[in-house]
Amino acid sequence: MSRYEIRPALESESGQITDLIHEAGINPTGLSWRRFLVAVEDSGRVIGCGQIKPHGKDILELASIAVRPAYQGRGIARKLIETLLAQSPRPLYLMCMEHNGPLYEKFGFRKIKYGAMPKYFQRIWKLFGAAKALRQVEENLLVMKLE
Ligand SMILES: CC(C)(COP(=O)(O)OP(=O)(O)OC[C@H]1O[C@@H](n2cnc3c(N)ncnc32)[C@H](O)[C@@H]1OP(=O)(O)O)[C@@H](O)C(=O)NCCC(=O)NCCS
Repeated sequence: MSRYEIRPALESESGQITDLIHEAGINPTGLSWRRFLVAVEDSGRVIGCGQIKPHGKDILELASIAVRPAYQGRGIARKLIETLLAQSPRPLYLMCMEHNGPLYEKFGFRKIKYGAMPKYFQRIWKLFGAAKALRQVEENLLVMKLE
C-alpha cells in the first residue's frame, strides 16, 4: 500500500466521500464534507472516511466510518476513529450493526438500552425494528455511547 495521510476533507473530495459511503452500504444522509476526516493516498484517492455528526445542540454521533475493501485490516479505521475521538467532546453516540459492536468496544463505546437513547436514536431504532420485522433481517442495530 502506498502512503496515506489522515486530514480534514476538501470540498473537491465530497464526491469520493459519497461514493465510499454508498459502496459501504451505510447511512447515506448527512454527508457534508466540512465535518469529514479522510484517509487519502498520495495519489489523491480517498480510501477511508469518518465524521462527527451533530443532532441538534447537544447530541453528537460518530458516523460514516468506512474504509475501501482493498485497504481494510490495516488500521485505517482505527486511526480515523482515534483522531475523531481526540477532537470530540463527550458523550458521543453511534449506531452500528451488531457485528461491528466489538470494533467500537475497543474504543470504550458501550451498548445502551432504548430508555438511555437520545430521542433521535430512539426514532431510528424503532424504524429499524419495523423494517427488520418486514424484511426478516436477522441482525440487530446497536446504539452505543462513549462517556
Ligand atoms: C468497519 C471498517 C470501517 C473497519 O475498517 P478497517 O480499516 O478494516 O479497521 P482497522 O484495520 O482499523 O481495525 C481496527 C481494529 O478493529 C478491529 N476490527 C475491525 N473490524 C472489526 C469488526 N467488524 N469487529 C470487531 N473488530 C473489528 C481490528 O481487528 C482492529 O483491532 P486492533 O486495532 O485492536 O488490532 C471496514 O470494515 C468497513 O468500511 N466496513 C464497511 C462499512 C461499515 O460497516 N462501517 C461501519 C459503520 S458503523
